[in-house]
Amino acid sequence: VTVDWDTSDYGSDGHAHFMHKEIAEQPDSVRRVLKGRLDERFHTVRLGGLEMDARELREFRRVKILGCGSAYYAGQAGAQFIEEVARIPADAEPASEFRYRNPVIEKDTLYVAVSQSGETYDTLVAVQELKRKGGRVIGLVNAVGSSIARECDGGVYLHAGPEVAVASTKALTNMLVGFALLGLHLGRIRDVSPADGRRLITALQALPEQIERILADEDHLAAVAKDLAQAPSLFFVGRTRGFPVAREGAQKLKEISYRHAEAYQTSELKHGPLALVGPELPTVAIVPDDELLERNLGALQEITARSGPLVVVTHDGVDLGVVPAHVIAVPKSEPELDPLLLTIPLQLLAYHAALTLGHDVDKPRNLAKSVTVE
Ligand code: AGP
Repeated sequence: VTVDWDTSDYGSDGHAHFMHKEIAEQPDSVRRVLKGRLDERFHTVRLGGLEMDARELREFRRVKILGCGSAYYAGQAGAQFIEEVARIPADAEPASEFRYRNPVIEKDTLYVAVSQSGETYDTLVAVQELKRKGGRVIGLVNAVGSSIARECDGGVYLHAGPEVAVASTKALTNMLVGFALLGLHLGRIRDVSPADGRRLITALQALPEQIERILADEDHLAAVAKDLAQAPSLFFVGRTRGFPVAREGAQKLKEISYRHAEAYQTSELKHGPLALVGPELPTVAIVPDDELLERNLGALQEITARSGPLVVVTHDGVDLGVVPAHVIAVPKSEPELDPLLLTIPLQLLAYHAALTLGHDVDKPRNLAKSVTVE
């Protein structure tokens, strides 16, 4: 049995495409995933759907996140958040690989399945395999009552609302918020201080308005996208918190513009990919204003020294020095939440690149919204 959204009353509301509508909805969809979950009195998060109390949650020694495609990239960012904030070792793996390799299932690992549709077959089978072997698995799922949501022991609904465009946007953003909520909850029942809890809650509350500011920059992003669309091949680079952002940016562009885009850790450029950098290959670099800023600026210089065109996605107020680049600046949040705001402009870059190239933005060739087959 599958439960689909009733999309009969879900139109594109004057937007040229569902993808554009879904990008524009993000301030509201982020408000929805936060609603009723922030506890300002105790500087923590309430997640009733987890069906596990603090004592049980404290027993977990690892977190393993499973999802496919963009959900996997969100999981990678989520694992970094959980490890950084809650100090629990965490990682993400494509569910499509996990289910085939007979993994060791550990009792003290909290497994998390992440999915917009809740019907992705690879993720569903991974959850079933986990349960067969006694693993505890929760879901971060958008579609209420979907197969994955029903299979899991508990979970966090993402409340992004129906997503129609094949390229996921608002659901992915809410996955990132969902992981932040989960990570903060796991952290506050361990060692995270009330002050740190308050700091992250304040940052979460600021997100909707900050997303509005990024969306207001659309004309600029459309102009940059027009330029990028001319290149047959592009790099997306980022490191640590910026790497899942780079992967998601490359994925969005590939899906709807059919341009070849590859994501690398910025730190890995010198170990191989730099050989390809030159005037014909633009790089979209994710450069947050964080502890690695100087190192990232060094990598940008390596790229410009080889005449590689650059688009830099960074924070307001960052001085790139003499590096020539299209600069896309987003408002500053707390560092642990950086992936969220840095991802939003990449959605609009991909959207406008695909428009420039005249592609069917909502229904790209060869892809289905929900992959319910083997
Ligand atoms: C996202 O833009 C893609 N269409 C795709 O990678 C998607 O995220 C993946 O198939 C997983 O879907 P799910 O979130 O519905 O499980």
